[in-house]
Parts: sequence; structure tokens; C-alpha cells
Amino acid sequence: MYNQVRAMGSHIRYSPLPSEEQNAFSVKTGKFSLPKITRLKCIGLVFIILVTVGLVMMSCLRSGYFSKSAVCNTTKEKTVFDDQESKSSDRMRIHHMKRRLPQCIIIGARKAGTRALLTYLNIHPDIVVKGPEMHFFDDDESYQQSLEWYRKQMPYTYPDQLTIEKTPAYFTEEDVPERVYRMNKTIKLLLLLRDPVERTVSDYVQLAEGKKARNKPIEKFEDHVIDSHGNINRSYKAVKRSIYHKHLSRWLEFFPLNQIFIIESQELVADPASVMYDVENFLEVSHKIKPGNFYFNKTKGFYCIQTDDQQKCLTESKGRTHPAVDPDVIRKLRKYFTPHNRKLYKLIGHEFDWAES
Ligand code: A3P
Repeated sequence: MYNQVRAMGSHIRYSPLPSEEQNAFSVKTGKFSLPKITRLKCIGLVFIILVTVGLVMMSCLRSGYFSKSAVCNTTKEKTVFDDQESKSSDRMRIHHMKRRLPQCIIIGARKAGTRALLTYLNIHPDIVVKGPEMHFFDDDESYQQSLEWYRKQMPYTYPDQLTIEKTPAYFTEEDVPERVYRMNKTIKLLLLLRDPVERTVSDYVQLAEGKKARNKPIEKFEDHVIDSHGNINRSYKAVKRSIYHKHLSRWLEFFPLNQIFIIESQELVADPASVMYDVENFLEVSHKIKPGNFYFNKTKGFYCIQTDDQQKCLTESKGRTHPAVDPDVIRKLRKYFTPHNRKLYKLIGHEFDWAES
């Protein structure tokens, strides 16, 4: 405007710089051209705007804004350790997201690596997990709240995503198989089985931690597991939970074996990527969980998860130090579990490499 007025002979007196004068209206060409400095300013302004927009977009992408925003979210991106509950916003309903009953449940066994399995499954973009244990089918009070209540506890999912929850107590509680069957007789079940001696010790460690937290006295493992006659204490819960064939038999009254995918715990510890490959096959989802998603953490002594921007191990309560148990008690336990393990092998048509005596 300033240059135009000046060139048209206005009486308003401005004193432009000589270089600016050269870029005013040209009578010869009949065109206006911006003075060089103004042009530079414009280019500078456009550059600043572009850089600012770029930076804002980058920071949005890094913070996951686009994957969480109802407006921008057209993909199913999620971070490995997302608490799926945080996705349960009302805004997501407009994207056909619903809370659905689980199509797969990790039923146990307790202390056999159920948290690790759930965490690894959560890497998969077509799987959404319920983080906290539900205890719906094993707890009468919860169960009486109805399936609709249970469904509402689940995270939101897209129609083509699987919902998975884990409650290891389901494996050993009597009424659970029938209750699960009544919900969905085609449900897929995942079951981890750990060497029963190790599982019993791990169970004891967990129970002892609970007592410690409640300031209760803690007895030695040996005192729990051996009765007054020097035999295995069969009524000790940690021992009872390790009689796998008994618990599995109850599940097999309702579900065929091919609906239950059994994983040996040590295999998951030693090679999570190849176990997850088989689990993906069982769940009929594409292969998205890769060896690159895992790295071995020497301090933790276990595999941890690696994603583009984070490394994460399970919490301290997973991978606890076990007490040094009297070797004689270990021998008694092995002897006690051996016939039970053989019954299990017969039931599933497969043997595990668990020590016998
Ligand atoms: P310990 O604490 O006895 O070593 P759950 O999650 O069912 O309670 O099982 C806990 C067990 O998971 C742990 O038992 C540990 O052996 C096993 N585990 C498997 N993979 C693990 C991992 N990546 N990090 C930590 N613990 C893991």
C-alpha cells in the first residue's frame, strides 16, 4: 500500500529507502513488484510459520496425540505400556469402538508368567488387554454383577481387535470353566504351566510378600510344605495349585484341548519372540510381535520390551529372588509331583522337561 500510494503521486510524504523505490510500480510493465526487503520479510515469515507448524506436528506425533485424539485417529496405533483404560473415552465411540467381552482369556497358572504373556500380547495392534486382573468368574460377588457388568469393565476395541484379560485364579477355581463356557463356548484360552516345584516356591514367595506387607509373621517355605510327619503338606494351597492335571481336567469337561493353548513357562522366559509367534497363530492374528520387540536385560535377568521410543521391564514383583530351599525338601516335592506331571502329560499328549525323582 505504501509503495502504491507513493508511486501514484500521492501527497503523503513518506521517505522510502532508495532500494525500495526501485521496486515500486513500473509504468513500463504496468506491474507492481514488492520491494526486496518486504519480499525477504514475507519469505522469512512463511519460513517461520512452516518451521513452527512442523515442530508442533512433530511434538504431537511424539506425544501420541494423533493416536489418542478422536479427531485424528484413523489408525490403531498404541504404545506397548498404554493402560488401555485410558482409551475408554466417550469420544472413541464415534470410531465404532465398543467395550466387548473377551474373545480370549489367560486362565493361569498363577506365578507361571501370566503378566509377561499379557504384556507381550499388548504389543500387538490387533489386541487390547485388560490390565488389572478381573476375578469375575472366580468371585461369586463379581459374577453376580452380570456379564453386562463384566463387559463394561473391558477396554474399548475396534471391531477387528481382540480383547484379552488374565486372571490366573480361574485355572484352579471350581466353578470357573462352566461359567466361562456359558459366556462363550468358542472362547480361546491361554494356559501357562511352570515346573510345579518352581511354581510352588514362587507362590510361597508371593504369599510371604503379602504377609510381610501386612506385618504378619512369615514361616519358612519348608515349614509350610512339609507336614508334621515329614511328608508333603497336600493341603498347602501353593502345592494344591501345582497339581495341574486335576485343574485341567475340569476345563476339559467344557472345552476341547485344541481350544486351550498351553505354554511351558520356561520357554516364554527363554525365547519370548518364538512363543509369541505360536500364540499369534493360535489367536489367528497376523505376525506383528517380532524378535526386535525384546531385549535381554542382564540386571533384571529376563527379557524386557523394546519399542521405538521406550524400553520397559516388568515390575519388581515379577522375577523375585527365591529362597534357598533344603535340597531334601526339593527332592520330596519332585517325587510328589512326578506322578501328577505324568497324568498331565497323558492328558495333553505332550511331555515337559521337568525334573523327576
Ligand atoms: P518369579 O517371580 O518366581 O521369578 P505371574 O505373572 O503369573 O505372577 O508370573 C510371575 C513369573 O513370571 C515370575 O516368577 C517370572 O519367573 C516369570 N516371568 C516370565 N517372563 C518374565 C519377564 N519378562 N520378566 C519378569 N518375570 C517373568
